[in-house]
Amino acid sequence: MDTTTLFKPFQLKSLNLKNRIVMAPMTRSFSPNGIPTAEVARYYAKRAAGEVGLILSEGTVIDRASSSADPNIPHFYGQQALAGWQQVIEEVHAAGGSMAPQIWHQGIMDNHHSGWLPPMPFEGPSEFNRPGFANGVAMTEADIEATILAFGRAAADAKRLGFDSVEIHGAHGYLIDQFFWEATNTRTDGYGGKTLVERSRFAVEVVKEVRRQVGNDFAIILRLSQWKPADYGNKLAKTPQEMEAWLQRLADAGVDIFHCSQRRFWDAEFEGADLNFAGWAKKLTGKATITVGSVGLSGEFLAAFRGESSVPSGLDELLRRFDRGDFDLVGVGRALLADPDWLLKIKLGRADELRGFTKEALAELV
Ligand SMILES: Cc1cc2nc3c(=O)[nH]c(=O)nc-3n(C[C@H](O)[C@H](O)[C@H](O)COP(=O)(O)O)c2cc1C
Repeated sequence: MDTTTLFKPFQLKSLNLKNRIVMAPMTRSFSPNGIPTAEVARYYAKRAAGEVGLILSEGTVIDRASSSADPNIPHFYGQQALAGWQQVIEEVHAAGGSMAPQIWHQGIMDNHHSGWLPPMPFEGPSEFNRPGFANGVAMTEADIEATILAFGRAAADAKRLGFDSVEIHGAHGYLIDQFFWEATNTRTDGYGGKTLVERSRFAVEVVKEVRRQVGNDFAIILRLSQWKPADYGNKLAKTPQEMEAWLQRLADAGVDIFHCSQRRFWDAEFEGADLNFAGWAKKLTGKATITVGSVGLSGEFLAAFRGESSVPSGLDELLRRFDRGDFDLVGVGRALLADPDWLLKIKLGRADELRGFTKEALAELV
């Protein structure tokens, strides 16, 4: 397997990456009271030492009272948490890596299994996390405005601390995605609407505010998914035309790179072509894209949470699509969670040393 094309550098605005591999954002819940520890910094620095081109942090929440449903998810606000992140980026840079935090608001959530609750009710476009499950309050326009500003402040802090880029989490059924999805955005004001483009207003305003805060030369990544945890088969954009209208609006707002989340990168997005989500996003907008989903592994990540193990799998199909120009960058999640040296092993052809993934890997930061 000739993987040399994956090791070509990538340059876009503030990003100067040594190769095309991106560590996918993965929540680890090892930051007590929202403060990343020295162990968290070491965990990311090991992936930098393992030559990962770009590290995306686990989701790290913005400054809203109910942006997190888990007390061990890191904050991206407050002096102590930001000092923790400063340590992270310094160690990653010292190990030769590049990194962006994934800034996040979880929106309406299930209660944490520990019984911990944020000081204010969960907030979202409506009180629903998914059809039939309400667990919070619908945001007022003042809440929306304050939340947009909080995303902007987090992005400004990312730049100030020295991160190389910022990723906005607009995927997987969390706040921004709750606005996109008609099942959770039942608003009748200017943030709701019948079309996906109308329901994108919140995301567009977040991206614009982030752009205003970081300036033109700082790369902005937006992560999106068609699927929801409550509906894996969901399609926000049901046709390429609908996808083009949606993504173009976000591109015009300031997105540089679309991070197109799929559970399996080889799944075609629409009938009639084998292009995946990242392939379509690049074709429709001309923007750079990141693909992700079961790269190098036999099984997908949600099945992994249910206990299904994954064994290493080849990269031929990934390379076929990459070499065809479908996407620019390749996100790798669990394979890098379990093994900081995954990419080095690929580079050096040490495939027999690849480990696969079992859910036990989640128990510690290696
Ligand atoms: C433990 C774990 C935590 C995750 N947390 C996040 C997260 O915080 N933000 C996010 O956008 N995706 C998250 N994901 C999804 C991953 O970024 C990635 O899209 C998914 O694992 C598929 O890639 P993989 O098959 O290479 O693991 C998480 C996945 C795992 C396994």
